[in-house]
Amino acid sequence: MFDQQHDSPVSMTQPDRLQALSLEGETLQQRAWRMPDIIVYQHNVNEWWVTPLDEELPLIRLNRAGASLLGAMDGRATLQTLLDQFGTWVCSPSGETGRWHLEHWSLPRYSLCFYGAEAPSGHSVHAKWDLLLQRVRDHWPGNAPVESDQHLTEFHHKGIQQHHGHFEIIETTVSHLFREPCEALHGLTYGRLLAKTLRQLGWWNPKPRRIVEVGAGLGYVSREMARELSANEQQGCEYVFLDLTRPFLTSQMQLAREAGWDAHAVHANAEQLPFPDASVDLVIDNENLADMTPTHFKKEEFESWKGATPEHQTVLELIRRLRLPLDQPLPDEIIVNSGAMTFLMELWRVLRPGGRAVLIEFGIETGWPDPVRLPGHTEYEVQFSHLRQTARWLGFREQYCPLPQFLSIQPDTQVLCTGAAYAIRRFCEAEGKPFAVRAYTESELADSLGELLSKLTGLHYHNVLDPAWFSLWDFKALIVEKPGGVQRPAYRESKGFRWYSQH
Ligand SMILES: C[S@@+](CC[C@H](N)C(=O)[O-])C[C@H]1O[C@@H](n2cnc3c(N)ncnc32)[C@H](O)[C@@H]1O
Repeated sequence: MFDQQHDSPVSMTQPDRLQALSLEGETLQQRAWRMPDIIVYQHNVNEWWVTPLDEELPLIRLNRAGASLLGAMDGRATLQTLLDQFGTWVCSPSGETGRWHLEHWSLPRYSLCFYGAEAPSGHSVHAKWDLLLQRVRDHWPGNAPVESDQHLTEFHHKGIQQHHGHFEIIETTVSHLFREPCEALHGLTYGRLLAKTLRQLGWWNPKPRRIVEVGAGLGYVSREMARELSANEQQGCEYVFLDLTRPFLTSQMQLAREAGWDAHAVHANAEQLPFPDASVDLVIDNENLADMTPTHFKKEEFESWKGATPEHQTVLELIRRLRLPLDQPLPDEIIVNSGAMTFLMELWRVLRPGGRAVLIEFGIETGWPDPVRLPGHTEYEVQFSHLRQTARWLGFREQYCPLPQFLSIQPDTQVLCTGAAYAIRRFCEAEGKPFAVRAYTESELADSLGELLSKLTGLHYHNVLDPAWFSLWDFKALIVEKPGGVQRPAYRESKGFRWYSQH
């Protein structure tokens, strides 16, 4: 619930964020709206389940009275009316009353409904729900109010223990959503489509002898690339995984070896690549740049060009040398993707002449990076103009475009809302049935769920390129090439796009 004056959730001002909302005074005159895209699962003839936003809270189980209470939250009834009607009724198989549910459902960690004088609708509907989600994220366990510049390294060294569930719940990535074939990718997986695209760009001619995949997560991309490439194209290629998270390397090696790669693992930080100069032909880096070390500056440091610490001074001097475009006005707190810039410099060092790298991540082109809070850690938008300038300054030829364009994603495919996929995962888990979070078209979901599908209501689909789905337009592909390789024509055509090189 929002405090109308300050636009902040009332519960956040209380010491315990799960402390029940007190139903008294003016609050009772507010009206209740259930969340617009709520997914309901009918467990049996008298029991329905819904999921609170916070994964750590148990599923909400409702009996017929509880389901009626949820149905009655249509923006017409006031809390007083709902309390009079349902307050003393038992609304859950576990005995919670309607009052208990009314006291909890609007808390951010539940986020099942909104109480207010006016609907969270019209132009503000998205703002309200987004804000609510952001507030929940701000208070996720493990997120310090201000995180140190080193916290990402520590998180990857020690924080990730449950690596199998990591990409299902903590940080779902585009390649993870598309690890199985999907209509939106022309019936291919992300890894296969990436390999096809790189081949079309001429990157297998001549074929790379040493490929390094940085931050490969569970390793699906390498497995799927192997499925796309012929035995001849794979032969003689060494596939090296470099990752900061040791448990991921085990999964990467297993999938890659099963797929036939001559695979090796290196436990290291991409900001200091442990490879000799000019020893790598191809680097693949998927959704890892936002994990690299940020530097947090105060505005005054930029105005005076005096860093508050020796490390800040080094980054400031680098920014000056690189002539990064410094978008005005400068904010009071300035975040710079210094780790990603260092990584690019390392790429310049380790790539052979003619060597290439593809870097894919969400990011911005103007302004300054914002933090993006995830459970347990915070990532940082990537400022691609800064990275492109760094690449050019180093001497790379660079090309850049949004990810949907790079992979020619099928624009008119409808895919299941990811929020719905998370909810279904929880229902299936409670029923002891397997379910993987990924991008599903309607028919793909029907195949995966079988008869369970008919027990779900509220399922909704988005156009795969609709920002409301996964904001795919915010993901960009930056490709860099170190000059000195085999001469090629000035441009090549792929699916109607011309890719110009910068000879
Ligand atoms: C968001 S995940 C992306 C995983 C995978 N590429 C995908 O698309 O699903 C980030 C990956 O980068 C690794 N990583 C994060 N920071 C790193 C760093 N500085 N050096 C090497 N690996 C890093 C993580 O352990 C993880 O494997």
